[in-house]
Amino acid sequence: MYDGVYSDKVIDHFTNPRNVGEIENPSGVGTVGNAKCGDIMRIFLDIDENEIIRDCKFKTFGCGAAIASSSMATEMVKGKSVREAMEITNKAVMEALDGLPQVKIHCSLLAEEAIHAALWDYATKHGITIEGLKPPKNDIND
Ligand code: FES
Repeated sequence: MYDGVYSDKVIDHFTNPRNVGEIENPSGVGTVGNAKCGDIMRIFLDIDENEIIRDCKFKTFGCGAAIASSSMATEMVKGKSVREAMEITNKAVMEALDGLPQVKIHCSLLAEEAIHAALWDYATKHGITIEGLKPPKNDIND
């Protein structure tokens, strides 16, 4: 049913998403809402003392494209430093997924924004600055 609309990689990450769940006592957590569709994404980060992302998990009330992009994005940030993680943009995630339909591009932004919100939470708690990181716009953390 998705033939021709979604790439094999999108279908793979949607039907078998990686890193779904929560991290207890996360180093950083970010929750954002998508302004276009109202869907929600929460990202948990476990970051070690060398500022390397040891683990990353997500929970979402989002569509299939949001699930696939978060699955891919969480895979891509694991093992990266907090600064390298800034390079995991929605564009990079979409490329890794072999593309998304035009109308679904905003869904991939949800993962990027939630990762940034979680990094912001971590940076704020630890008093560090991550170049290029801005306060989350669509943050809906309590
Ligand atoms: Fe809301 Fe895709 S339609 S995240």
